[in-house]
Amino acid sequence: MLFLALETSCDETAAAVFTDEPRVLSAVVASQNDLHERFGGVVPEIAARAHLRNLLPVVDETLRQANATLADIGCVAVHNTPGLVGALLIGVSGAKMLALALGVPLIAVNHVASHIYACRLAAGRDIFPCVGFVVSGGHTALFRCDTPLSMTLLGGTRDDAAGEAFDKVAAILGLGFPGGPRLEQEARTGDPKAHKFPRSFIREDRLEFSFSGLKTAVRYAALGQDVANPLAIPTGQARADLAASFQQAVVDVLVEKCRQALRQSGLTRLAVGGGVTANKTFRAALEAMTAREGFELHIPPMSLCTDNAAMAALAVEKWKLGDFAKMDLDAEASFI
Ligand code: KG4
Ligand code: ZN
Repeated sequence: MLFLALETSCDETAAAVFTDEPRVLSAVVASQNDLHERFGGVVPEIAARAHLRNLLPVVDETLRQANATLADIGCVAVHNTPGLVGALLIGVSGAKMLALALGVPLIAVNHVASHIYACRLAAGRDIFPCVGFVVSGGHTALFRCDTPLSMTLLGGTRDDAAGEAFDKVAAILGLGFPGGPRLEQEARTGDPKAHKFPRSFIREDRLEFSFSGLKTAVRYAALGQDVANPLAIPTGQARADLAASFQQAVVDVLVEKCRQALRQSGLTRLAVGGGVTANKTFRAALEAMTAREGFELHIPPMSLCTDNAAMAALAVEKWKLGDFAKMDLDAEASFI
């Protein structure tokens, strides 16, 4: 039994073919970075129009790589929430059209739950119950995950998501778009102790995050570095030090809140997903903390961290329960 899954929640047009094991046969991601770069961020209308152009070619290529045709597909899955509503709508409409034309069931999948399921996919075995942590451009949220489909929110961010903070600080430092990977690159030659940036709520038991104060602190530290030109964006070692100190502050908070969530919930497994999980400093800090505390850590490989359709293999769990979507399925911008 083969599934075809679609992902169009933000600026990646993606499709995947997987079996009911689940085992991924192919996964294709068409990035739109070049379209959004000159605006310094994702422009929703441009993203939706690009999805419309890219979706069917991406599906074709995904089928070709899986050595399959549409006639082999027994179920169509789609991320219908959360995300940019106009972007999500392209995937949802495409998935409905394919399911209807092929006469196969349609399954709606939550993109955030899929980010955690990417860990299950990579592990090749059951990892539930666990603490699930989604750290992306839109979310910084800790969940108690008793099963792949039952998630209880333990806590989240009051303002920016961690990925959003990376993107905004990258913009402040003149590093361009996409911010997260560029900031990580810049931080490699910087001193993470050069600036003492705030780590909100780190000493408190509350499973809450806030990154807006940190962002502002970087802004003020960035200004005035050059006495002759106080509004200039720092360059060279000064910029690398700002990037490294910012990154370390984010990572310290993210890892400490994971530790607290594990301690408080009594769970021993941690599954982390979302674009920021691609960050090597974050991955290394998670590995060190879980090894020290005796927890089991699951992090997906890089290709399953950022947005993709393979992680929508969560649809297999819904399929086993007969949990199918109707043809009036809608795109929902937010789900928490
Ligand atoms: O999961 P994702 O691809 O899309 C959403 O669902 O939001 O996450 C994208 C976010 C962006 O904010 C991006 O800057 C961040 O993940 N990101 C990173 C890295 N790669 C992507 N942040 C820090 N370091 C990275 N290497
Ligand atoms: Zn995502």
